[in-house]
Amino acid sequence: MNKGNNLNKEMFDSISKEYDFINNLITFGSHKKWKKEIVEISKKIKPKKILDLATGTADIAIELSSIENCKIIAVDPSSKMLKIGERKIQKLNTNSNIFLEEGNAENLKYRDGIFDIVTIGYGVRNFTNLNNSLNEIYRVLKKDGLLIILETSLPTNPLMSFFYNIHTKFYIRLIGKMFSNNSNAYQYLESSAKTFPYGEEFKKILRDANFKDITEEVKLFGASTLYISKK
Ligand SMILES: C[S@@+](CC[C@H](N)C(=O)[O-])C[C@H]1O[C@@H](n2cnc3c(N)ncnc32)[C@H](O)[C@@H]1O
Repeated sequence: MNKGNNLNKEMFDSISKEYDFINNLITFGSHKKWKKEIVEISKKIKPKKILDLATGTADIAIELSSIENCKIIAVDPSSKMLKIGERKIQKLNTNSNIFLEEGNAENLKYRDGIFDIVTIGYGVRNFTNLNNSLNEIYRVLKKDGLLIILETSLPTNPLMSFFYNIHTKFYIRLIGKMFSNNSNAYQYLESSAKTFPYGEEFKKILRDANFKDITEEVKLFGASTLYISKK
């Protein structure tokens, strides 16, 4: 693992305990609705095997587990985020079809063309090498398999942009300071959201990585975007 990946892992390990709580506070719970949308889109193609990359505390994997006869492999480099996810799955008390595994998007251990869908929620902007990760995702997807990405973006409307800036600059930083031992992590998450490519720029990155039929759905005036594309 390179230095960037190690720092990343340390950062997410350090915020794992309060991650879900803070995530709900700073998004006012809106991420849950968009994660459910990922499941609705996924269900339509009757998948048998889904890879949820950057699964963190397994929110999306848990939602996906409602799909019948489908195996969910949920991967993240942060063992501590996965531990919280494991506890959440145990609490569900069902015969779970979720398999949590430590791993990195840049170097996936899976064979070529075995997944019907790859999902990624708020993960891609943390990938140290986005191009390598997209190449790996392309490799493990089946032909015509779906890549569904939910990621932060920026509002384009000036009024919404004004409120967004107040929200990120003051509210997220304050919440990070109040509830986390690592408030720098929340500064990083906030500033990376401001610099990460979105909209047309991100769609070009997907196109350059050979993905096709790329669509985007803007959420909450642009605070997040759902990108759907095909191998
Ligand atoms: C903001 S959290 C998102 C977690 C979850 N998907 C969600 O929607 O709440 C980002 C996650 O990306 C993971 N991550 C960072 N670098 C990664 C990489 N190179 N490959 C896979 N996951 C990575 C982190 O460990 C962290 O759990």
